[in-house]
Amino acid sequence: MPLTKPQKEVLTCDKRFRVLISGRRFGKTFLAINELAKFGRFPNKKIWYVSPSYRQSKNICWNMLKDRIIKHKWAKKINEADLSIVLKNNTVIQLKGADNEQSLRGVGLNFIVLDEFADIKPQAWYEVLRPTLSDTGGHALFCGSPKGFNFAYDLYTRDDPEWQSFKYTTLEGEQVSQEEIEQAKNDLDERTFQQEYLATFVNYAGIIYYNFDRNTHIIDQHETNSKVIHIGMDFNIDPMVAVVSEKVNNDLIIYDEIQIWSSNTDEMVQEIKSRYKDNHIIVYPDPASRQRKTSAGGFTDLAILKNAGFEVKARSQHPLIRDRINAVNSKLKNANGMSSLFVTKSCKNVIKSLERQIYKEGTSVPDKDSGFDHFNDALGYLVEYLFPLRREFKPSEPTRWS
Ligand SMILES: Nc1ncnc2c1ncn2[C@@H]1O[C@H](COP(=O)(O)OP(=O)(O)O)[C@@H](O)[C@H]1O
Ligand SMILES: [Mg+2]
Repeated sequence: MPLTKPQKEVLTCDKRFRVLISGRRFGKTFLAINELAKFGRFPNKKIWYVSPSYRQSKNICWNMLKDRIIKHKWAKKINEADLSIVLKNNTVIQLKGADNEQSLRGVGLNFIVLDEFADIKPQAWYEVLRPTLSDTGGHALFCGSPKGFNFAYDLYTRDDPEWQSFKYTTLEGEQVSQEEIEQAKNDLDERTFQQEYLATFVNYAGIIYYNFDRNTHIIDQHETNSKVIHIGMDFNIDPMVAVVSEKVNNDLIIYDEIQIWSSNTDEMVQEIKSRYKDNHIIVYPDPASRQRKTSAGGFTDLAILKNAGFEVKARSQHPLIRDRINAVNSKLKNANGMSSLFVTKSCKNVIKSLERQIYKEGTSVPDKDSGFDHFNDALGYLVEYLFPLRREFKPSEPTRWS
């Protein structure tokens, strides 16, 4: 069966790492099998096909691959028990599941396909699979549909001469008719349709800062106008973080971020002073800093900030997490569609955190396991203090989880 035009574009690209993002039923797995066979023409190679689970690999790839190999009479030995095929030229093609990380500890692979890779844990690639390509100079092909701004997005946007990315809609794959796609459009909410059929990276259900939008809120750079800077701060030891902003009328512009690992408040103070020597600095810390002592000297975090000459503004009571979240979301976009919070593109961690922190599934409890909470906490203390929500409005419940 001939490949479609977009499949051929991916096929003919000779970059070492290729990332193919598409809508569902574009023909990714079809192409992947084609690629396994193509690399299989070279003798004495080791080739893997990896999907999120062993079962999935078996279901979506095994029969198609086998048929193809058998049809061309290339097989020397087919092993159903471990889903491997030894070709007559001694090249081995094997199917794996990323659910069993132990089984991925291979050596010297020449080619790997990672299918549905948005559902594969990043560590499986970075820590386990990527190293197996090093000695051999092996190649990899990533296939998948978008899944929010996760690891797949990182690889898709990777800017590196060894990498090439491709993105196609379901329609461009020519396997699904326009009518069927129109039907799906009726059945799905807009975001799901965009993600699943148009292969658009969209914020997914459960996202906390759902008003954040790269096109609106990220600015290239910011020229500071004022000597007064406002810094939101969160006191973890790992990491201790701060967001640096300037207030321009009603707008708040975040233009620097500080993240220090295994640190303490004294170190953070040093860092701020070294970056901003001549400024009037107002810090908006976690109100718990009134009591908490992160550093050894016996002073509270709040006292350390004051002793450093900073003006410190913290509520006497801890603001509700929900109030902080609502305050940030309102600054991102209020009910009239106005945005008044902006982030320069250099603040990569702030952006990532806004884009990615989610609620724990089915709850209104922000997830803290992914590490995106620190910058958002720091930002929340700052925004909530400077722009508190008017209490006569009852903020609406976030309802984005499914
Ligand atoms: N070039 C092609 N020629 C014929 N059939 C194709 C081609 N590409 C894909 N298909 C078929 O289209 C369907 C969807 O392809 P698949 O690879 O499973 O899509 P995806 O992995 O992107 O969801 C499958 O039945 C597959 O066999
Ligand atoms: Mg597939």
